Amino acid sequence: MDTDHRIIAVLALRNAHRVVIFTGAGVSAESGIPTFRDAGGFWTRFPPEKFATWDGLLRTALTHPRLLAEFVLNVIEPVAQAHFNAAHAAISQIGRHLPTTVVTQNIDGLHQAAGSADVLEIHGSLLEVIDVGSGDIVHRFQREELTAMATSLRRYVAGEQSLLSLLMQMRRQYPLDWRGRHRPNLVLFGDALGEPAWSRACTAVEDCDVLISVGTSGAVYPAALLPARATNQGATVISIDPQPVAGCWLQGAAGEVLPALVLDAFGH
Ligand code: APR
Repeated sequence: MDTDHRIIAVLALRNAHRVVIFTGAGVSAESGIPTFRDAGGFWTRFPPEKFATWDGLLRTALTHPRLLAEFVLNVIEPVAQAHFNAAHAAISQIGRHLPTTVVTQNIDGLHQAAGSADVLEIHGSLLEVIDVGSGDIVHRFQREELTAMATSLRRYVAGEQSLLSLLMQMRRQYPLDWRGRHRPNLVLFGDALGEPAWSRACTAVEDCDVLISVGTSGAVYPAALLPARATNQGATVISIDPQPVAGCWLQGAAGEVLPALVLDAFGH
């Protein structure tokens, strides 16, 4: 890790008044949740054109229901089994030292599980179901419910139960309107970002003096605009990633770099 960058990061954090921590899939990698674009990531196994839009998911449901079930299983099972890791804990610790807003692209709820209070989920949450009309949250899944759903999906994918049996089971377990009025609170490609989360995220970035970007490839807009917006308004931007990132880059896994940074900046 570049010593100069580490010194810049520690001093910036020590002197910060308002911090934004912008996270992507990399911050949850050490919790066992695959990223999207790394080797073995979601989009390398499930093509986005089939699985990253509502139309693609509907077409796949109608033409290849077992493949869709396999995709959903691969999404929900790691989240159901995940626990927050040292990176999430370190981010929560920063929030105990400084006014901190976490702006996350992740849908796994692990920042909240680690104790971060102000979390903006700009790509939604796998743990929430909304009414498409009102946008109101109509159900919040417990991780145990996701585990039960994964077990049912795994049996269907393995050919141990029929699609009808799976659907009947789901309707009994989750009394939701599966005719289209209720759906997971997820922002897919082509969707507008979740509000008020996105507007609040933009405001937090304009007001911060330090933005720490953790575990994101910066491949998806408008979320990827946030670090540049922070730089443009004069904030110090620090990036944490095993892969090279322009600017003040701390190389390494989030679960190692963030706890060390917090220890250097705050002494514990
Ligand atoms: N610690 C820190 N960073 C890591 C780690 C780790 N242990 N492991 C991987 N990374 C980094 C990778 O090097 C990469 O830069 O995390 C990043 C993951 O990039 P992506 O897989 O593209 O995930 P993300 O940036 O969150 O994707 C953004 O794209 O498909 C959409 O909605 C989806 O929210 C997602 C968005």
